[in-house]
Amino acid sequence: MGLAMIGCGTVGSGVVRILQQSADLLTRRAGQPLQLRHVVVRDVNKDRGVDLSGCQISTDIQPILDDPAVSVALHLVGGIEPALSDITRLLKSGRDVITANKALLYEHGDELFELAGQLGRTLCFEAAVAGGIPIISMVNSSLTGNRISSIEAILNGTSNFILTRMLNEGQSYNEAVAEAQHRGYAEADPAMDVDGTDAVQKLILLTRLAFGTNVEMDRIVRQGIEHIELLDLLVAEELGYRIKLLATTRVKDGSLEVSLQPTLLKAHRGLAMTDGADNYISVSGDAIGRLTLSGAGAGQMATASAVMADIVDYATGRAQQTFQSLLRTRCNDRYSLLPADDLTRRYYLRFRVSDQPHVLADIADILGRHDISISSVRQDETRESGDRSGVARLVVLTHSTTEGNLRAADLELAKLDTLHGTRIRLPLADEPAT
Ligand code: NAP
Ligand code: HSE
Repeated sequence: MGLAMIGCGTVGSGVVRILQQSADLLTRRAGQPLQLRHVVVRDVNKDRGVDLSGCQISTDIQPILDDPAVSVALHLVGGIEPALSDITRLLKSGRDVITANKALLYEHGDELFELAGQLGRTLCFEAAVAGGIPIISMVNSSLTGNRISSIEAILNGTSNFILTRMLNEGQSYNEAVAEAQHRGYAEADPAMDVDGTDAVQKLILLTRLAFGTNVEMDRIVRQGIEHIELLDLLVAEELGYRIKLLATTRVKDGSLEVSLQPTLLKAHRGLAMTDGADNYISVSGDAIGRLTLSGAGAGQMATASAVMADIVDYATGRAQQTFQSLLRTRCNDRYSLLPADDLTRRYYLRFRVSDQPHVLADIADILGRHDISISSVRQDETRESGDRSGVARLVVLTHSTTEGNLRAADLELAKLDTLHGTRIRLPLADEPAT
């Protein structure tokens, strides 16, 4: 089977490694030898640490289109363009496509699936969500006998790596971001990882597949990890929690509740114990109950493992069947989205406040007037300053309340000149979603 690869960076060079290291095994599993014939990159002279001597290397996909021996193209490049044009050309030329590009699938997945369906082609994307974890195959095939009621997950390896490094190794936020980039976990623009964009794109892809419902990103409560400080991680730990960037979709009273937020999770939960670049996905279905998968959510070889799964599935014809089934059952907008203001959880609030009389009373008054009941308050003792110029850190845990109440209260809190810097507001997830 003739393969072509567009992009030979972190993921692509991992795929080349597996193709070369496990050629015999893959030939048996695929039922035919796999031959990588073309590699398309930006810089043909770059050393990629892998042997590409048997391939034609170019900067454009035209040689692939001109080669009748290529049946499937591995698309391992990020971004929207030229990714969209290249995949469109490949599909129209009669090639099937395997991609790892979740940003593209989030923005143009519907039209690409539609086009592939019309042309009788197949589009595979196991590597696009949760790196090496086979969640697409699980949702599309293995759990097909279930009505899924919830997904709770850690879907961004870079963010999880950063939070872990800050807490366990005392690394600064910036040092941890740089190390995640160096290890090949981060997106070309790591802002996509830390501001939650990458995780929310994956959550929306999963939500489309598992709940048949398309959700618009700007209607979801979404927060990244960029404002989380070591202080928050340490306070959470003292309270018996770990902070993780939690992606949740669940059916509640016939609507879908969808959110992506750094969340305080009870420290003993599997999600809370997921460290480094690992991801964790817990799916609840009416027949299976709760099923969890965890493992490498980013990185060269783990992601290449997911691409290889698609290649072998494609070689054996399984991928073509699964894709047809996906086309038949895809989005029917079965659920409406629960308005963000109606999300009901407990919250962790963290403020930097002037160490002056009445500050706590003002905060408690605003929270109380918005029907937010306080569960605990913690302020570390501050040094006696005499001139009231000191700043204290204040952490408030609330009882269950709505996102809407908190948003309204926050508008008033923002007007207090005794509050300084970013106000942190994180939900707590004391129990697993059902
Ligand atoms: P990467 O290391 O930055 O590699 C990107 C590759 O694409 C490079 O080889 C680059 O060529 C090539 N490229 C970029 N623009 C191109 C263009 N216009 N034409 C031809 N080639 C082009 O990225 P990556 O980490 O492998 O990620 C690739 C895709 O996989 C992305 O969609 C990413 O979101 C997804 N993904 C990554 C991971 C991960 O852990 N890294 C996990 C899951 C999914 P040069 O080398 O010559 O610059
Ligand atoms: N940048 C992504 C992450 C790669 O860190 O999870 C895997 O999709």
